[in-house]
Amino acid sequence: STTPVKVTVTGAAGQIGYALLFRIASGALLGPDTPVALRLLEIPQGVKAAEGTAMELVDCAFPLISSIDIFDDPKAAFDGANVGLLVGARPRTAGMERADLLSANGGIFGPQGAAINEGAASDIRVLVVGNPANTNALIAASSAPDVPSSRFTAMTRLDQNRALGQLSQKTGVPVSEIKKVTIWGNHSASQYPDIFHAEVAGKPAAEVINDQAWLENDFIPTVAKRGAAIIEARGASSAASAASAAIDHVHDWVLGTPAGDWTSAAIPSDGSYGVPEGLISSFPVTSEGGEWKIVQGLEISEFSRGRIDASVAELGEEREAVKALGLL
Ligand code: NAI
Repeated sequence: STTPVKVTVTGAAGQIGYALLFRIASGALLGPDTPVALRLLEIPQGVKAAEGTAMELVDCAFPLISSIDIFDDPKAAFDGANVGLLVGARPRTAGMERADLLSANGGIFGPQGAAINEGAASDIRVLVVGNPANTNALIAASSAPDVPSSRFTAMTRLDQNRALGQLSQKTGVPVSEIKKVTIWGNHSASQYPDIFHAEVAGKPAAEVINDQAWLENDFIPTVAKRGAAIIEARGASSAASAASAAIDHVHDWVLGTPAGDWTSAAIPSDGSYGVPEGLISSFPVTSEGGEWKIVQGLEISEFSRGRIDASVAELGEEREAVKALGLL
């Protein structure tokens, strides 16, 4: 039998954690042949609830789970970790300024990055889910100078999946036949879901849809503001869909993306498509051999350029704000 892969999940007692852990344990994250050692990180007030979730995980008798450990100390939780799913974050509360939000999260993702730097396995791969995800990932990466920055990513896969869902509903074509959708920029309302290279049942998506007004006034805002719409409808924020997207991101990163398609992930920019180097911005990406690669050579229309630039500008402002707070 193979050595278990150590997967550390932060915010394990939260609602995404509750949807995520059972999918990891079932084999959806790393495939049906890879045993997993689960390491749950919570703040002290969350430990008891995490213990309850761990009891349920035991009660599922998942064959792939080799151990479940619970921590309230990041150093212990990330010791030897191969995969880090950074879900726990400080939410924005009423009246909170952006600087307060960024510094509260700096206080979480800085120490977690340092713990990863100190003790994680050499193949550590990190996905930040907790918001503001792109900038939290930047903070964690900058606190882990010995880990290649390419190992720090943020989640825009939920936005990608939301875009696929909307396109499928609009065209009546199943998501399995919709390819090459892209999310650019920040995981925020400024993100740009781009269908101009997408294919629907083998045809250019923009031609199949042929409705620029729908694209601008319906599709893009629906995808970008879906999180708020879910809260409005469900009375709670998206959790199962966020967990599912986190599974998809890490699954594809480790095991590869399918031939003839790409996905989206926020990864450190190498300057491609005019995105300033080092910003953790969403791109069209493929993965092979455990490394994300930005899809190159796509033609960017003037419409797309404006949308991409606006979201990337927001990321640049967030980076300046955390720099000013001394978090980078
Ligand atoms: P939640 O509030 O239900 O759970 C968060 C958990 O994190 C809590 O149990 C809390 O005790 C824990 N936590 C807080 N600080 C921690 C720390 N320093 N170390 C370890 N654990 C800590 O929230 P939920 O719904 O699970 O969402 C988690 C995060 O995911 C939020 O920031 C949310 O905005 C974000 N999110 C991101 C999405 C994306 O697409 N990137 C989509 C949906 C949510």
